[in-house]
Amino acid sequence: MSSLRDGYTAVVLGASGALGKACLHHLQADPRCARAIGLSRGSDPALVLEDESSLAHCAAHLREHAPLHLVLDATGALTIDGRGPEKRLEDLDADNLLRAMQINALGPMLAMKHLLPLLAKNEHVIWAKMSARVGSIEDNHKGGWYGYRASKAALNMLLQTAAVEIARRRPLAVIAALQPGTVRSRLSQPFVGDEGLAPEESARRLLHVIDRLPPNGRAHFVDHLGNSIPW
Ligand SMILES: NC(=O)c1ccc[n+]([C@@H]2O[C@H](COP(=O)([O-])OP(=O)(O)OC[C@H]3O[C@@H](n4cnc5c(N)ncnc54)[C@H](OP(=O)(O)O)[C@@H]3O)[C@@H](O)[C@H]2O)c1
Repeated sequence: MSSLRDGYTAVVLGASGALGKACLHHLQADPRCARAIGLSRGSDPALVLEDESSLAHCAAHLREHAPLHLVLDATGALTIDGRGPEKRLEDLDADNLLRAMQINALGPMLAMKHLLPLLAKNEHVIWAKMSARVGSIEDNHKGGWYGYRASKAALNMLLQTAAVEIARRRPLAVIAALQPGTVRSRLSQPFVGDEGLAPEESARRLLHVIDRLPPNGRAHFVDHLGNSIPW
């Protein structure tokens, strides 16, 4: 990551997932990275998106490693509590829709609430969150996947709102919502089988892309090739 200071500190949230693990490996192998820390439900401390006190606890743990220069949030879920995405209106269930919002939109933003104060000030820093192209309202031509789509669209709006606020105090901060491509993982397996990009390749591309994004007071919504996605 050549845009960040030499000796930068990175944190990956959801480091137990396919993309999180791959991003963490790349960062740990970067000679310019002094420290790359992975957090997940299985780490100590545990990061549980539905439990705000766990997010505060993670922030307290990370304080000794602050300032942070890169936070990459690779958490997210498509199949939740054993239930896959809705195909039609009759499948809608309020509890399931709320669970998708909780995991894909609200939890990640509460994580940002607690970890953002640890980001370095007055220098280039990056907050990157795995979103999904299906969260684009303009790009929705196929329909279906109501909860996942809506929760990623909500995430995108929350990130954009935060980007405007963050720019006032950290004008050099980059905020990015990422589309990693279709990537082989636990999340995608029931829908695409073993098709798709290797997580290591997607992670390599995404890190390359975020390394080149300019701070401009707004959030970026970009894919693994660096192409902008309409919100
Ligand atoms: N794979 C794709 O094709 C694809 C496409 C577009 C967007 N994305 C996005 O990329 C991100 C990563 O996906 P992936 O493919 O790497 O999936 P994955 O391998 O299933 O990883 C998901 C990660 O999220 C964590 N997580 C899920 N629910 C959580 C919760 N309640 N609290 C804390 N952590 C939780 C998982 O933790 P555990 O290990 O503890 O379960 C895991 O670390 C997601 O945001 C996804 O929407 C993926």
